[in-house]
Amino acid sequence: MSTSYFAGCTVLVTGASAGIGREFARQLAPVVGSIILVARRAERLEALELELKVINPDLEVFYRALDLRKHDDVVRFCNWLEESGLAVDLLINNAGLGDRGRFIDSDWDKVNAMLRVNIEALTYLTYRILPSMRKSGCGAILNVSSVAGFLPVPSLAVYAASKAYVTSFSEALRAELRSSNISVTVLCPGPVPTEFHSVADRSGTDRQTLPDFVTVPVQRVVQESLASVARDRPRLVPGIVLRTILTLVLFAPMFIKRLVYDLQLRREGAPRANLRRNLGAKMPSHI
Ligand SMILES: NC(=O)c1ccc[n+]([C@@H]2O[C@H](COP(=O)([O-])OP(=O)(O)OC[C@H]3O[C@@H](n4cnc5c(N)ncnc54)[C@H](OP(=O)(O)O)[C@@H]3O)[C@@H](O)[C@H]2O)c1
Repeated sequence: MSTSYFAGCTVLVTGASAGIGREFARQLAPVVGSIILVARRAERLEALELELKVINPDLEVFYRALDLRKHDDVVRFCNWLEESGLAVDLLINNAGLGDRGRFIDSDWDKVNAMLRVNIEALTYLTYRILPSMRKSGCGAILNVSSVAGFLPVPSLAVYAASKAYVTSFSEALRAELRSSNISVTVLCPGPVPTEFHSVADRSGTDRQTLPDFVTVPVQRVVQESLASVARDRPRLVPGIVLRTILTLVLFAPMFIKRLVYDLQLRREGAPRANLRRNLGAKMPSHI
């Protein structure tokens, strides 16, 4: 795919210090005019700035060490963006994190981080950047969701729900903006080998729950995503194998999915549910 569609653009990439976000910056660097990189790890962003300048010495690079969990900091960043006169043509809402494990055992700080980064910051950045796109008469938004957003996923309950929000929000926003020359695309990847898995895993290991044959390399995910934005596609699930499996899963009725969830729980050694009619009659806890 040629990235010439993005020639001279101003791009904002959140979560640019690693994985998919960093790859977006690398693939866009040869053609875009300005790029704004956002993440918490300033040293990573600084290193990326140097790398991008080697790829394209004319590229204007701005980086902001920003914690997207902190709403006041996000507001300040948006104010800076407005005052700087940088009109974002392509907004890539990529930053996000997961948490693998049962909700009942989760750490609130991590749950809250998912809600703030995956949902609140993405929505607020979109809210603040859309007016300048409307003013300039065009723009593109690429929101990074996940295949996990298509159905409830035990052990990724909040993450999957947060991504369901991203997918739903993106589709509705796209419909609202059809007459405004602003496109909205939602990227729904399956497993991509990045730091995401060690961040999501509570023990910090690099474990993926899905098999290798559905894994798609980060370079391909980004290539396909940029092609989808250029073609004004509503949604992308990278990888033909994953797309096929997902179609079958989505066809299955919810009661089948619930059976699978139950089987999975039993495979993990949990006892069969024994819910009494009277909730007041306490029973020994199995959770
Ligand atoms: N990898 C996968 O298998 C996969 C699958 C489906 C969807 N996704 C989605 O793809 C997106 C990118 O994930 P990835 O795979 O590239 O993961 P990654 O390698 O862990 O990168 C995540 C990025 O998000 C940034 N980030 C996290 N918390 C942040 C915060 N509080 N403030 C600012 N930035 C923050 C991180 O930067 P700092 O840590 O420096 O802040 C990092 O740059 C996410 O939305 C994820 O949900 C990934």
